[in-house]
Amino acid sequence: MKLGRLVKTKRIFPLPRVYQLLEPGPVLLVTTAYKGKSNIMTQSWHMMMEFEPPLVGCLISGRNSSFEALVATKECVLNIPEEHLARQVVGIGNCSGRKLDKFRKFKLTAQPASKVEPPLIEECFANLECRVVDTRMVNKYNLFVLEVIKAWAEPAKKDPHTLHHRGKGLFMVAGKTIRLPSRKK
Ligand SMILES: Cc1cc2nc3c(=O)[nH]c(=O)nc-3n(C[C@H](O)[C@H](O)[C@H](O)COP(=O)(O)O)c2cc1C
Repeated sequence: MKLGRLVKTKRIFPLPRVYQLLEPGPVLLVTTAYKGKSNIMTQSWHMMMEFEPPLVGCLISGRNSSFEALVATKECVLNIPEEHLARQVVGIGNCSGRKLDKFRKFKLTAQPASKVEPPLIEECFANLECRVVDTRMVNKYNLFVLEVIKAWAEPAKKDPHTLHHRGKGLFMVAGKTIRLPSRKK
């Protein structure tokens, strides 16, 4: 094995930054509704867990007011923003909705959802209405398992320019799409 070459071209990567390599995408805006108020948080730690019904695992810190709302109401909407919303995405992720109306501050439009209380964000090209279906890993990992019960997406949006977080204010923007033969979904 050409260990010498590997050592030359690679450096030890700090463990606290591993997430920057594995970060799933796209960055989401999660809406919740609690005590008569809607809120938004930015979220990038999530993963698909099942095709049908679609299940999504989401890590939400207990320090966020969205955590409290999700525990209490068990409902949220996962809104998928594109590049043109990048500044709002970062702004929303750097303040708390406890004392602030983020819809107003970041000039986003709330639209009623069909099956849950939290609103859809009109400016996002896709919106997933979700219910929390498993909280067994919330205490240990802050991991909520969500079931998508209704999904909306702009049909014309074939190659959305979604944002993919690389840490510290860096984002990759999805662009190029390639198609390969595959029998799997
Ligand atoms: C790019 C980005 C990604 C983020 N991803 C997450 C995440 O996956 N989970 C989380 O708990 N917080 C995440 N945050 C932080 C929350 O969005 C932030 O704490 C937010 O202000 C919480 O708002 P709230 O108190 O109104 O719920 C992220 C922030 C940014 C800027």
